[in-house]
Amino acid sequence: MIVVETIGEMQSYIKEQKQNGFKVGFVPTMGFLHEGHVSLMHRANQECDIVVTSIFVNPTQFGPNEDFERYPRDFEWDERIAKDNGSDVLFYPSSTQMYPNEAGTKLTVTKRTNRLCGEKRPGHFDGVVTVLTKLFHIIQPDRAYFGQKDAQQVAVVDDLINSYFFPIELVVCPTIREEDGLAKSSRNVNLNDDERQIAPKLYEALNEAREKAQKGETVFEIRQALSDTLDRLERGETDYVEILSYPELEPIKTFDQKTIIALAYRFESARLIDNIII
Ligand code: PAF
Repeated sequence: MIVVETIGEMQSYIKEQKQNGFKVGFVPTMGFLHEGHVSLMHRANQECDIVVTSIFVNPTQFGPNEDFERYPRDFEWDERIAKDNGSDVLFYPSSTQMYPNEAGTKLTVTKRTNRLCGEKRPGHFDGVVTVLTKLFHIIQPDRAYFGQKDAQQVAVVDDLINSYFFPIELVVCPTIREEDGLAKSSRNVNLNDDERQIAPKLYEALNEAREKAQKGETVFEIRQALSDTLDRLERGETDYVEILSYPELEPIKTFDQKTIIALAYRFESARLIDNIII
């Protein structure tokens, strides 16, 4: 595996691979790699000739009071995980490479973002599509791999790819969980012991909601019950609980379409998100 730190070097590498007719798979990440990222790399490795994993903690997708500074970082760990799991290239650009000057053209997401994290983290998805547009242009992947844990991100990227004709196939991989059900996330390391013990209850609550949906309870009842369950947890507070159509993310009254049950929960040490699609 090679580590590439400049855009110029990345572009010439990709040009050569494309000339050889190789299919490029891309796994964009913010590092502190875990089994969720590993599953994306494995899938990309199965389906593509070359796998590029990027590590860039993107400042533009963090709000002023969010955890940009505290976001966990460990390049040596990431390098080892990427190398051992089928990445051919680790693209590790600096902020000055990615944002050399104030851009005169800005990207704004206007669809699928007025709820969930889009509502609670204003500007977050503008930052995500901005950095992904840069990365897609540099890496020119044939396929890009994302985890279903970030379901709204998947919905937004799906729209970005379609709206701007990126010749990229979006590949969405299942959420990878700890044995106790907690969705793997780089932010989990920031949880203290008490919070870590409580955190699996988020997924338990989602599963209860799914069972209720299968038994025929209404969207309104299930959302209320889920909200009550989260309110009873001994630490933290609910950021949102929503039941929406997927990937459009519109309110629904009945379960007669693909539906997401999504939540965000704020512990003192980390804000976690999780969802199930039914
Ligand atoms: O999911 C993430 O880690 C980030 O949002 C992404 C896609 C790498 C963009 O910075």
